[in-house]
Amino acid sequence: MKDQEQKEQKEQKEQTGRQTIFSGIQPSGILTLGNYLGALKNWVMLQDSYDCIYCVVDMHALTVRQVPAELRRHAYEALAVYIACGIDPDKCILFVQSHVPAHAELSWILSCYTMFGELSRMTQFKDKSAKNTDNINAGLFTYPVLMAADILLYQANLVPVGDDQRQHIEITRDIAERFNGIYGPTFTVPEGYIPTTGMRIMSLTEPEKKMSKSDDNINAYISILDSRDAIMRKFRRAVTDSESSVRRGEGKDGINNLMKIYSCFTGKDDSEIEALFEGRGYGEFKTAVGEVVADALAPVKTRYDELMSDKSYLEGIMKRGAESAAGIAARTLSRVYRKIGFTQIKN
Ligand code: TYM
Repeated sequence: MKDQEQKEQKEQKEQTGRQTIFSGIQPSGILTLGNYLGALKNWVMLQDSYDCIYCVVDMHALTVRQVPAELRRHAYEALAVYIACGIDPDKCILFVQSHVPAHAELSWILSCYTMFGELSRMTQFKDKSAKNTDNINAGLFTYPVLMAADILLYQANLVPVGDDQRQHIEITRDIAERFNGIYGPTFTVPEGYIPTTGMRIMSLTEPEKKMSKSDDNINAYISILDSRDAIMRKFRRAVTDSESSVRRGEGKDGINNLMKIYSCFTGKDDSEIEALFEGRGYGEFKTAVGEVVADALAPVKTRYDELMSDKSYLEGIMKRGAESAAGIAARTLSRVYRKIGFTQIKN
């Protein structure tokens, strides 16, 4: 970005006093209902009140082996899904992580301020290494440092994520505070923005597990782009329990999850849902959940198809986003380099 443009952006920010938001999703598959309810829905809601920066975090996806052509396609798809869900590229910065090298650069620096013990305690590392026993690579271990770099580069105040990312936000805060403690104020210490509803959507086939786009069983998750038929079929097959009345309860993970999903789309609370489905059984409830989800996702799919047929439009957004992001990131990185004692050559 040009100096003048950066200056104007800074002045505008000072005038509006708006806070910065940063968040990202890995393009490791087609985004799911969990991504939508845990993250995207809030991203859209926040875009009018904050300076929002939303990233497709392809470097993070590499911690699990990816097929190159699929990774490339998934990055386009993720960007198209962001926009199809309602994120406005004229209001937010949208970009792909690997287009801004400062992420890798700051990540290295921060890894020297992150303790081995801290990373060893990360539950995501434990889970993912248990799932990928033949590829427990160093990137999987240092993943939270790259995530901290993503957030801290943009001096983000808030990070809207699902409940599963809580520990990663905590370590980001710890790293920022440690660095600031040594070198003086450098990074904004971010807060997580975790919704109360929809914060953890569970698998439809194993409801004690989180819904995940990398699940081997396609019936376990709803993709944002699933057809109406697929959505209805997956909900009809969703694993529940041996009771039949629709009510929240201990040991009823499947029904609890379906009630949460229904509530996210209809705004009804548990008691309203229980009253509505009184005496109607699980079958009818599952159909009703499928319908509200399919209705809500249908326009997203239509818009997505339009966007995917215009690759050059998406590439234009990627380019513009990368330029804006790189401008902000370069300022933080330069400040960090100065503080830690790296020599810098003036242009
Ligand atoms: P990822 O790609 O696993 O998920 C992206 C976002 O979707 C949320 N999410 C869910 N929310 C509710 N229920 C679910 N079943 C569910 N599955 C996923 C996640 O909480 C997340 O908000 N480490 C991050 C990506 C990342 C990032 C960042 C996020 C990299 N750098 C910087 C924020 C800021 C991740 O793996 O998300």
